[in-house]
Amino acid sequence: MPKRTVVTMPGDGIGKNVLQEDLKLLDAVGFEAEYVFADVGWEFWVTEGNPLPKRTIDLLEKHRLGLFGAITSKPKDQAANELAPELQGKGHVYYSPIVGMRQYFNLDLCIRPCRTFKGNPLNFARKTRDGYEEPAVDVVVFRQNTQGLYAGVEWTNPPPEVRQALETHPKMAAFKDVPGEDLAVSTRIYTREACHRIIEEGFKYAKKFGYKSVTICEKPNVIRETSGMMREEARKIQKDYPGIALWETNIDAQMMWLNKNPEDYGVIVSGNMFGDIVSDAFAGLVGGLGFACSANVGKDCAVFEPTHGSAPKYADLDPSIVNPMAMFLSSAMMLDYVGEEDKARRIRDAIAGVVEEGKVRAYDMMKLKGAPEVLDQGAASTSQITDAVIAKL
Ligand code: NAI
Ligand code: MG
Repeated sequence: MPKRTVVTMPGDGIGKNVLQEDLKLLDAVGFEAEYVFADVGWEFWVTEGNPLPKRTIDLLEKHRLGLFGAITSKPKDQAANELAPELQGKGHVYYSPIVGMRQYFNLDLCIRPCRTFKGNPLNFARKTRDGYEEPAVDVVVFRQNTQGLYAGVEWTNPPPEVRQALETHPKMAAFKDVPGEDLAVSTRIYTREACHRIIEEGFKYAKKFGYKSVTICEKPNVIRETSGMMREEARKIQKDYPGIALWETNIDAQMMWLNKNPEDYGVIVSGNMFGDIVSDAFAGLVGGLGFACSANVGKDCAVFEPTHGSAPKYADLDPSIVNPMAMFLSSAMMLDYVGEEDKARRIRDAIAGVVEEGKVRAYDMMKLKGAPEVLDQGAASTSQITDAVIAKL
């Protein structure tokens, strides 16, 4: 295999801790790569007015492969107040760099596997007539990553031409007397091409890995245009995959059924916001944020990241106590992506081994409240977990 170059973007808070550990693991598994570090996150917002500097975009533009830790985001006004004094009042507006990166590189597929590791105390358990059972969940969420409610087309006090355009819709009559400054509009825009791609990729994945169903999780009974377009495309695409069932669920009902029969689902495809929700919900059944991994994949560029954020409360603890498994699993997805499936499998098997053995566990797996004392209560530090996984490789 030719040596790969990976753009590493630790970002903020615990993003730095988990990415650092991850590079040790990638080395240990024998992945031959060069890592180029890139600036992203809060520090660069404060000092430069841009959390995703152009030099970072250029590096990704060149190498097309990234590992991302996590970033800190804050509401618009708070972000503006924290800008360096010389940058204040110069029209800088804060946007989340990870959302920006997904859009800039059109990383339109967000893939979030949610799989049970045997022996994880955080696994979902269901009460039965005479005890408990622990169904093995194996769900892979395909979330459209660039459009919908997160595309950023929104206003408070929409400009007059926007308001007039909206008022051509009969349902806007209900809002006609609302003063502009009291009216907020966030649009949900889907394109047929993007719907097609996320669904097609979901079906391809199901076929490749033997999942028996693809579920479109939306809300077409109410959100008829955008969710309706997803449903329409799904029904067309399914015809090319006769062996795979197409199921359709509404996001609200899906949240209810999730605890009832999560083991019945395979691939789930959703738009941006519902995909965010449904993937967090399933991740909660298999270990939560400490285990939730993800890939952002475009046509010729991909960035891999744990789902969790920068967890500022834990950022400065030394030694670090956070669980690096989500980051490890994200980098295993990267290895799959670059054709190093064998190394990816070895990482997942090593994680499975450590989890099942149960001797080395992060505080979250021990159901402790995160604090420095957890180490005295038997929890492993972030780097002890890395060592345990490496020892199992
Ligand atoms: P968070 O994911 O950072 O943390 C929430 C809680 O989950 C933590 O307090 C901790 O108890 C637990 N947790 C998270 N990661 C963990 C890990 N690896 N091991 C063990 N426990 C873990 O979400 P929160 O607190 O809502 O947001 C903090 C900051 O992160 C905010 O600024 C937010 O905007 C940002 N964020 C960034 C994301 C990203 O970089 N993709 C995603 C989500 C939030
Ligand atoms: Mg989320």
